[in-house]
Formats: sequence, structure tokens, C-alpha cells
Amino acid sequence: MERIVEAISSGASGEELAAMPLPDHYRAAFVRREDAAMFEGLASADKDPTKSLRVDDVATPELAPDEAYVAVMASSINFNTVWTSIFEPLPTFGFLDRLGKESVWGRRHALPYHVVGSDAAGVVLRVGSAVRNWKPADRVTVHCNYVDDQDPSAHDDSMLAANQRIWGFETNFGGLADLTVVKANQLMPKPAHLTWEEAAVNALCNSTSYRMLVSNNGARMKQGDVVLVWGASGGIGGYAVQYVLNGGGTPVGVVSSPEKAALLNDLGVDAVIDRKAESYRFWSDASTQDEREWRRFGGKIRSLVGEDPDIVFEHPGRQTMGASIFVAKRGGTVVTCAATSGYMVEFDNRHFWMKLKRLIASHFANYAEAWAANRLIAQGKIQPLLSAVHPLTEVGDAALKIHRNEHEGKIGVLCLAPREGLGIDDPELRAKIGEDKITLFRRHGG
Ligand SMILES: NC(=O)c1ccc[n+]([C@@H]2O[C@H](COP(=O)([O-])OP(=O)(O)OC[C@H]3O[C@@H](n4cnc5c(N)ncnc54)[C@H](OP(=O)(O)O)[C@@H]3O)[C@@H](O)[C@H]2O)c1
Repeated sequence: MERIVEAISSGASGEELAAMPLPDHYRAAFVRREDAAMFEGLASADKDPTKSLRVDDVATPELAPDEAYVAVMASSINFNTVWTSIFEPLPTFGFLDRLGKESVWGRRHALPYHVVGSDAAGVVLRVGSAVRNWKPADRVTVHCNYVDDQDPSAHDDSMLAANQRIWGFETNFGGLADLTVVKANQLMPKPAHLTWEEAAVNALCNSTSYRMLVSNNGARMKQGDVVLVWGASGGIGGYAVQYVLNGGGTPVGVVSSPEKAALLNDLGVDAVIDRKAESYRFWSDASTQDEREWRRFGGKIRSLVGEDPDIVFEHPGRQTMGASIFVAKRGGTVVTCAATSGYMVEFDNRHFWMKLKRLIASHFANYAEAWAANRLIAQGKIQPLLSAVHPLTEVGDAALKIHRNEHEGKIGVLCLAPREGLGIDDPELRAKIGEDKITLFRRHGG
């Protein structure tokens, strides 16, 4: 891989890269099937990704006709890597085994190890015989919607495909590695003004937030909408508030520290609620919610922006869903894509139906949505949320930070990129957009 990195750094042509031999093994971050029970009996908070995530060489898989090998310059940690590394809610080997039964090519994925990671920025090294639009030397980002387009249900909205999967979570050969194997329809052009690590952190979270708020498949946000965003300085929340600001809406961001509140203010969000400082207790005990606390929270939102939210951007799940449904405006929409604090959610249906609210389920994004979201990054209209960078060898520490909610925005991971700051192809565009905007989260992250 060293020779490949040298060739990439010296601007090798597609023909030159295509002529270079690929190694039969590569460095990757993975969990092992034999470790799947290692945390049994522990509370979630005590399950430590540094113990389960390993970095070592794995065999290079064969390339299917509709796939590409990508040299991964940088990747990022997503919450799904936390789930995989603590084997919750289920070990991900079940997903790989199911994929293994689907086809000859699927069989490659059912292995004793699972290479994780659902984001990447890098360079195409080889393409399969059925690939039309990409070639070696193309600089790309990778989105994580892994779809078999022979399924008719994939041809309206591919997120509805019966065998839709998330690459690096429900498939093997993920992005936290020096090399990855992806379907050609996961590739998107790398935003030319960004470094490898800035380009690598966006696809999963940015596309998710785009679908949840902007797309026809989501909440269809309009100019003027008040949008309550939970975890507003986190991965999906940090992109969500940018979409609200860009779209002429008013974000109300919820965070859990004064530092995160200050970061949101710097991003242009005026209405910020520090949930820790306000010490909301939506659950008075493990099985009872407290409507007075929902009302206190709703009162706080009104005091900041003068009205109830048209849209609630929901993902913490069990801890917040009751409050989210309650505070949404009459006729308003709650859009959800996750349940970080627990998936058995509960809300008071009277407040839901009597006030004609809507609950929309959203999951990642189809190719068109991911492409649209990537284009906005490439145009400098949405900024990357890179706040910290780790080498691949520290992938466990980086995942632990996210598990403990000790981060802001996104954590980048250097794979083949030897250091931060490389990979900018359009410095003029970068200067035009503004270094201060692009690196806001990185400066806060220190
Ligand atoms: N379905 C999909 O396609 C999809 C895509 C991306 C992410 N997700 C899921 O979405 C969730 C968030 O992902 P992310 O990347 O944004 O993670 P993240 O960077 O960790 O941000 C989540 C934020 O949520 C807030 N939060 C956590 N627990 C909370 C609680 N009990 N009550 C209120 N707020 C809480 C925290 O912010 P404060 O502490 O500052 O409030 C945290 O920073 C994860 O569960 C992830 O798996 C789903």
C-alpha cells in the first residue's frame, strides 16, 4: 500500500494506478466473531470499544463486476461502529451471514471478522467490468447505502429495497481500513476544497440529515419552519442545524454543555437549550414519564422563539420521544432515524392524534439524496463537522469517545493519509468559502 500512497501523492494517472499490483492483504479495523459475547452481563456504558476493535491485516476480497476498490485516505467514526463494537443491540455477524446466503458475491462477507466503518474518502484503484461512471485515480467519497438494484422495490426509493443494507455495518469490508470494496453506486465525487479527513466525515450523517429534513421522503422543511434539533452539535444534529439555517428556518438546538452551546452560537444558531443546565427529567422513574417536564421544555422553546416547533429532529429515542411528540406544533412533524437511549419508545397518543401530528421514520438516504447532500458540501453550502482526528490505530479510543458522548461533530480517522491537511485540490474555492467556516468544529475540538 505504501507504493500506492506514493503514487497517489505524486498525482499518478489512472493508467499508472491501474497497472500497480494490489496487495493480497490490507490493514483494517474489525471485530471478531469469537469476541461477540465478551461484554455479556455488562451495562452498555461499561462496554469498551477499545477492547473489541482490533487493527490488523485482513485478506483482500475479490472484486465483483459492479464494485470498485478504493484506497481509503481517511474515514470517520459513526455511531454504528459503536453499536458493532459493543455488540448491541445484536452482534453484526448475523447481518453478514444473511448477506452470505444471498449470492456468490455475498458469500465473501460472512467471515470470522467484520471490517467496520461506513464513511470514506479516497481514490479509486480498480473498477469491475460492469462499472461505467468511475475509473482508477478518481477521487471519491463513499456513501453507505448498499443496494442490490435487481430488486424491483429498489427502483422507487432504494431505501425501500428489501435487501437494503448499510455498508460497513450490515456488510463487511467497511471504510475504517486502508482499502475498501464498495458498489460503484456508492461513489460520489470528493469535494475538491476539502482535505481527506474533512471529506471523509460527511457522507453518512450529512445524507441522513438531508433526507430527514429536506427530501420529499422526510419532513419537507419549508422556509420559516421552527425546527427543534436534539444533539445539535453532534453528528446528524450538526448537519441538521445547517440545513435549517440554509433553508430559511429557525433551529432550536439542544445540547448538554456550555461549550457545545457556544459552538452552536458560532455556527449561527441563536436559540440553544442546554438540557443538562435545565436538568429536564422527562422520566420520573424507569416506567413513568412526567408531563410537567414536557411542558417545562415546551415553555422554554416558546420563550426562545415564540412558538412551537413545526418539525422535531428526533434520534435520542426513549429518553426524549415523549417530549418530542408533545412539543411539536399542532399539525407538526416528528422525524426520527434512531434511538440512542433506547428503542422502546413511549408517547401520549392523545397529544399526537388530537393535535394531528405526524411521525416520520427515516433511515440513511438513497443515492440521489446522498448525491444532493454531497453536492451541497462540494459547493461549500454545508460545512464538514470534523472536530478531531485519530490515526487508524486509535480507532477504539475514537469510538469510545463517541460512546461516552465526549465529542462534538464528527471524529475523522486517518487511514492511508500520512497526516492531516492533505488532499485539497481546489485551494481557491477553499479560500472563497472561508477557512474559518470550514474548520469551525476542528478549532473547537482543539
Ligand atoms: N438511521 C440512520 O440512517 C442513522 C444515521 C446516522 C445516525 N443514526 C443514529 O442517530 C443517532 C445519533 O447519531 P450521531 O452520529 O449524531 O451521534 P452523536 O454524534 O453521538 O450525536 C448524538 C447526540 O445526541 C445527544 N444525546 C445523546 N443521548 C441523549 C439523550 N438521552 N437525550 C438527549 N440527547 C441525547 C447528544 O448531544 P448532547 O449531549 O449535546 O445533548 C449527542 O451528542 C445514533 O443513535 C446513530 O446510530 C442513524
